[in-house]
Amino acid sequence: MQSVIARAPCSTANLGPGFDVFGLALDAYYDEIQLTKKGNKIIIESSDSVPLEPEKNSAGLVIKEMSKKFKIKSGLRIKIKKGVPAGFGMGSSAASAAAAAIAFDALFSLGLDQNTLIKFAGIGERASAGSIHYDNVSASVLGGFVIVRTDPLDVIRIDPPKDLVLCIAIPKIIVPKKKTEVSRGVLPQQVKLSDYVKNLSNASAITVGFIKKDVELIGHSIKDIIVEPARKHLIPGFDKVKINALRAGALGVTISGAGPSIISFTSKSADHNKICKAMEKGFASADTKCTTIICRPSKGAFVL
Ligand code: HSE
Repeated sequence: MQSVIARAPCSTANLGPGFDVFGLALDAYYDEIQLTKKGNKIIIESSDSVPLEPEKNSAGLVIKEMSKKFKIKSGLRIKIKKGVPAGFGMGSSAASAAAAAIAFDALFSLGLDQNTLIKFAGIGERASAGSIHYDNVSASVLGGFVIVRTDPLDVIRIDPPKDLVLCIAIPKIIVPKKKTEVSRGVLPQQVKLSDYVKNLSNASAITVGFIKKDVELIGHSIKDIIVEPARKHLIPGFDKVKINALRAGALGVTISGAGPSIISFTSKSADHNKICKAMEKGFASADTKCTTIICRPSKGAFVL
């Protein structure tokens, strides 16, 4: 085999209280990586605006590390087709990294296990986020709802309920270049024990909600009193978007990953257009336009 194409979904991380632990793959956008044995160097090609040096590109970094680890002699051409908007808390770098790891595994018939694939995909996060966290890449690789445990890395995957629908508002604002680093920089280094207890109880309830396929339990447990309050000032109109969405029937609302997108958890029977409109109005109150999308959980990365 000379060439492989892999596709990986976008994702939302944290889901409120599950900072760096929870991820959910979404069927809104996909990144595609074509990996071809060619020449004697690693070359990136793309018509999208992505860094072309392998060390600065999340897919490039993954391929470079995997080539080194598996002592691959041939050069590789990485063709990147971005579908996931970059810098908006939709797991854009993770989707490219996940597709790259899956493509490499298939091209060289490695048959790597899931945790190893996630570990390699996680290396790609360093290119854009500055630190490795596995919530988005785990969701992109495995699909569905994921719980990340580290030291050693061990990711648990749960099938989401069929009637879980997400409404996402992506604000049209200029995000800083190293957005994830910036939004991690505003987080507290220490938390109050009573806050930790509240977040832990909600995170546990979310997990049970996914196991029991109980959308209401998931939605009503999307409550984060540690990370969301520290980050919300980075998102114009956050409080208004949230309250509007809840009034329009969303079960729970929070920042998608490191933001600035805002995600509403809803059931299939909710009025999704109404929730999207309510979120738009919330952003408009802060003179900010947004794009809204209605989506569902996705399966994980796959080879075409
Ligand atoms: N858990 C990470 C954060 C996700 O919130 O910083 C960033 O993509």
